[in-house]
Amino acid sequence: MVKITRIRALEILDSRGNPTLMTKVTLSDGVIGVAKVPSGASTGIHEAVELRDGGTRYGGKGVTHAVKNVNTVLAEVMGSVNPLSQKDVDESLLKADPSKGKGKLGANAILSVSMATAVAAAVHLKMELFEYLRTKVIGKNAKYLLPVPLSNVINGGEHAGNELAIQEFKILPIGAKTYPEGLRCISEVYHTLGKRMIKRYGRMAKHVGDEGGYCGYGLKHTKNALEEIVGAVEEAGYSPGRDVVLGIDAAASAFFKEGKYTIDGKKLDASELLEMYLDLERTFPLQTVEDPFDEEAFGDFAEYVKETKIQVITDDLTVSNPEIVKRAIKEKAGNALLLKVNQIGSVTEAIEAAKIANDAGWGVVVSHRSGETGDTFISDLSVALGTGQLKSGAPARTDRVEKYNRLLEIYDLLDGKCGYPGSKFRTDWRNY
Ligand code: PGA
Ligand code: ZN
Repeated sequence: MVKITRIRALEILDSRGNPTLMTKVTLSDGVIGVAKVPSGASTGIHEAVELRDGGTRYGGKGVTHAVKNVNTVLAEVMGSVNPLSQKDVDESLLKADPSKGKGKLGANAILSVSMATAVAAAVHLKMELFEYLRTKVIGKNAKYLLPVPLSNVINGGEHAGNELAIQEFKILPIGAKTYPEGLRCISEVYHTLGKRMIKRYGRMAKHVGDEGGYCGYGLKHTKNALEEIVGAVEEAGYSPGRDVVLGIDAAASAFFKEGKYTIDGKKLDASELLEMYLDLERTFPLQTVEDPFDEEAFGDFAEYVKETKIQVITDDLTVSNPEIVKRAIKEKAGNALLLKVNQIGSVTEAIEAAKIANDAGWGVVVSHRSGETGDTFISDLSVALGTGQLKSGAPARTDRVEKYNRLLEIYDLLDGKCGYPGSKFRTDWRNY
């Protein structure tokens, strides 16, 4: 039986220049699986814990302790685990650190081993990662759906230094027939938007934020940003509402303080903010809103779901945690789950969270973090789960584009014999 013979982690940098982990898992047949873990900025308070060194080195953000935990404790534990059973792999990892949030050894340390082992197992079996995850780990047939990209073209909130409270302004190319056509659409709209913004606000508008979207220089209000995007969609030759719909991630915890949301120069309570979202839906082809309220405001999320027909995504509210996802489903606090593997810290738990959401009829959107690496695991995961939606920032900057490019590669590997949801991006793809 194939075994894990060596695990080696090292400290590398993420897209913001902060330390993170790269881990290599070597199998007895010489196969190597590599994974690099991402890191968020607008992190939910209930997320799994990234182990950081503290002190002055790298401003306290070093991960040498997490690296050491991989190279010692976890390397030893994994020596007796079957790498071809992701369930066994992750159960052993969780047993090694049963603390809340995986804070003892570090969720960043644990996740790096979980992902790298899956990659190694796929190579060992001579399978593509998406195929391995789909058929061997999730246990579904080899029928594939590529996702609609939710592409963040203007950055705000914690991801850019501008006056926009809303963190992400996204476009979804739903009029495309295939994934490559969809990607072309977002790239064309993105570049048209850049030229428009420079014409209107000057060359400072050319700069980008943490996820590669424009930095929003000159934009004062939420509506300004949405108007610019709709204008760019038209100017690029697409029809807003038919070819391209809009989405936002409010990441509202970041502008919530003492019961009020500070946005567009006003201080709003939850019901006024809800009214603002409903007004945006009436004015723009807005089809998806993420984290509209504070990360503990289950009741306000549920109010929104009651009032709207569009997609309401929970991110900081549910932090990809199966138990919290169950609560959100029970309280009808959303209708789609944002799935970030590093919020929960293992591949198996992330898949479980997605299954729970799907079983309740919720959509699932696989997601990057604002601090990323070149790792493309999430592209394969989105195809394996058949979520029909993936968010990976702007179609610019290598850390974002690598995910989109991996999907182009998957499309090519499948000879184009795969689905693309288009306008049905919100459909429940459970049975796909
Ligand atoms: P984060 O942002 O990675 O900084 O948390 C992404 C998101 O909120 O979806
Ligand atoms: Zn979010």
